[in-house]
Amino acid sequence: MAERVLVVGGVGREHALAWKLAQSPQVQQVLVAPGNAGTASCGKISNSEVSLSNHSILAQFCKDHHVGLVVVGPEVPLAADECIVDDLTAAGVPCFGSSAKAAQLEASKSFSKAFMERHGIPTARYASFRPAATSSTVDKALVVKASGLAAGKGVIVARDQDEACRAVMDIMKDRAFGSAGEEVVVEELLEGEEVSCLCFSDGHSVAPMPPAQDHKRLQDGDQGPNTGGMGAYCPTPQLPDQELLQQIRESVLHKTVDGMREEGTSYGGVLYAGLMLTNQGPKVLDFNCRFGDPECQPTSS
Ligand code: AMP
Ligand code: GLY
Repeated sequence: MAERVLVVGGVGREHALAWKLAQSPQVQQVLVAPGNAGTASCGKISNSEVSLSNHSILAQFCKDHHVGLVVVGPEVPLAADECIVDDLTAAGVPCFGSSAKAAQLEASKSFSKAFMERHGIPTARYASFRPAATSSTVDKALVVKASGLAAGKGVIVARDQDEACRAVMDIMKDRAFGSAGEEVVVEELLEGEEVSCLCFSDGHSVAPMPPAQDHKRLQDGDQGPNTGGMGAYCPTPQLPDQELLQQIRESVLHKTVDGMREEGTSYGGVLYAGLMLTNQGPKVLDFNCRFGDPECQPTSS
């Protein structure tokens, strides 16, 4: 049956999603809200000015315009107190994306580290803090992270104790990332190649996408600070090994979906595991509850 689909978001990720959805014979039209210049008018795709902040208006718009599916791109509307997926689902509008509870895996690094610890999911050793605290016993490189959402920029890879202490002060005292830095996670530095392993999940099964890699750090030779990702390629040659992929599927993706379900939070939507391939095996750097930007672009082509 031909359907109208509404994609929420406005970066390259949502353009790629709209482009792919428009190729389906089941899809009659794709609306993107707010969209961008690329999605303004392109075959079956056009932008919509519908309000994304008032979810009752949005739900009514979907009903009035026969929108059969809403696909949510970015993390903020998923993790918000008023989660778009929770509200639209309650209003009877089919929605693809995670619930607010499930989105905690991305919205709180402190939650996700404790979750991984509870379920034996491989990750870097860590500690999390609420009041600012610095330790004089630290003598090696550390990674300092604002626990909340910071558009991929709230992570400082510190080379020594001074830099780590400065990062804690920048985040907690000077509020470099606002309220996202009210809690800080400090973890051991992992070394290796980084890959993005994503899957679809209905809360029980997982359907992995091909692994991707994005370009994270500014400047030649990865010498600059982290960005949210400046380009990506997929599939990545770093994971040619089917056995390793199977290990990631079982020890990270499945374990996470099973663990969330056991804790009463069914995980539906896209689960994105950012991994470091260390010489002790793959370890989780973080989780996202959505498609990657820019990884979605090569993955969907
Ligand atoms: P996150 O938002 O936690 O994924 O961190 C953003 C980026 O910081 C990651 O993509 C890595 O490049 C880097 N990073 C995060 N945690 C670590 C770690 N424990 N060791 C090394 N690099 C890390
Ligand atoms: N490319 C990293 C992210 O989507 O979070």
